[in-house]
Amino acid sequence: MTAELIDGKAVSLKIKERVQQRVEKLKTNGITPGLSVILVGDDSASQTYVKNKKKTCESLGMRSDLHLYPASLTEQELLKKIDELNNDPDIHGILVQLPLPAQIDEFKIITAIAPEKDVDGFHPISVGNLMIGKDTFLPCTPHGVMVLLEHYGIDPAGKHAVVIGRSNIVGKPVGQLLLQKDATVTYCHSKTPDLKAMTQQADIIIAAIGRAKFIGADHIKEGAVVIDVGMNRDENGKLCGDVDFEAVRERASFITPVPGGVGPMTIAMLMENTLLSAEKGLSKDKASESV
Ligand code: GUN
Repeated sequence: MTAELIDGKAVSLKIKERVQQRVEKLKTNGITPGLSVILVGDDSASQTYVKNKKKTCESLGMRSDLHLYPASLTEQELLKKIDELNNDPDIHGILVQLPLPAQIDEFKIITAIAPEKDVDGFHPISVGNLMIGKDTFLPCTPHGVMVLLEHYGIDPAGKHAVVIGRSNIVGKPVGQLLLQKDATVTYCHSKTPDLKAMTQQADIIIAAIGRAKFIGADHIKEGAVVIDVGMNRDENGKLCGDVDFEAVRERASFITPVPGGVGPMTIAMLMENTLLSAEKGLSKDKASESV
């Protein structure tokens, strides 16, 4: 069996087109969705990510401010900036790029962002709402994975989904979203004694480990759906995922490439969240006008 390719680039383009149309509509009501992105330090991968976020915002007609700070920024200074952005009516989304330098407490920063502007879906209120199945901002990468599955007609109901990785950004929330869609979910991680024994039972594998080409053909059963969230460099410095793509594609039914799979979906879902936040603000304004 050779797997069908899940084309995240094509799906993300469709989502962005729809976002752009809704942005145009909002603009006729005098509202331009605005995203503030904060980067502390000079990590080159993070710099590329935040610049892409800004560029994509602008290409869809949204406003984006990029706030770049040196790695020496204090926690107090960052909290002050977040407070300012929380109170700025033209800003509908706030994103603080992670990781942060050691002197800054990540949890304090995430919880300082107003939940109604938490377009990353990382605030404990957003995470709690996700856990209990309430409407909330969904974290972008896990949401992107779910949209890809849906787009390709892959229904998680009754399937065994094995998530490899337990980060707050990807592993834990993607497992919750799969559970909401009636999958049976197993979480695996670095302390799982026999990973292969688990992954070989999976109908759907979500690889979010952070190790280049770690998942080989012998990890998967014939016909499994393989979603690769990894973003690594191989021995030649070439971008690759957590999955050995060439080997696994011969056994899987569907597979995401890296690049061009989950990656483009993350930004598309961030754009959608920022738009949703601006739309929610408009409907609130309209409701208060009619009182
Ligand atoms: N670092 C890696 N992924 C992400 C993300 O989705 N959002 C933020 N804020 N930081 C990240």
